[in-house]
Amino acid sequence: MKKRDILVVAGGIAIVAILWLAPEETTKHVPPDANHARFYPMVKQEGKKAAEKFCQECHNESGVPFAANHPPKFRCLLCHKLNQ
Ligand code: HEC
Ligand code: HEC
Repeated sequence: MKKRDILVVAGGIAIVAILWLAPEETTKHVPPDANHARFYPMVKQEGKKAAEKFCQECHNESGVPFAANHPPKFRCLLCHKLNQ
């Protein structure tokens, strides 16, 4: 193999490895408890965007505050998955 081919292969492996290790895998799921149960059918029927509108009713500075190091908070459900 030429050096360039090796680099392409190495790059491909690196990308797969990064996706594999993506933080999504460790980000907490939305628990199926009393506070969150209603979102399970809502996501199925109306989609993630509809359900996310309600998250900040509780998850805000005067309710359940976010950790100081929480990443940008638009689109909660893209990071916090529902349990399957
Ligand atoms: C009725 C209030 C309420 C609403 C609405 C709500 N949450 Fe929560 N959520 C809580 C409370 C209280 C906790 C912390 C205690 C607990 O774990 O139940 C929590 C905890 C969490 C956790 C951490 C669970 C863990 O394992 O530590 C995640 C993730 C979360 N919520 C995501 C969401 C998302 C996403 C939405 C919108 C789809 C949402 N919440 C809407 C009250 C709410
Ligand atoms: C870009 C990805 C991302 C988005 C978008 C996002 N979060 Fe998070 N969230 C995280 C990460 C990463 C953590 C900290 C580590 C963990 O949960 O395992 C976290 C932590 C939390 C926790 C605390 C869990 C605990 O440790 O008790 C709650 C609650 C939470 N997020 C709710 C929300 C809500 C509600 C929204 C939407 C308003 C939201 N998040 C949007 C990535 C995200």
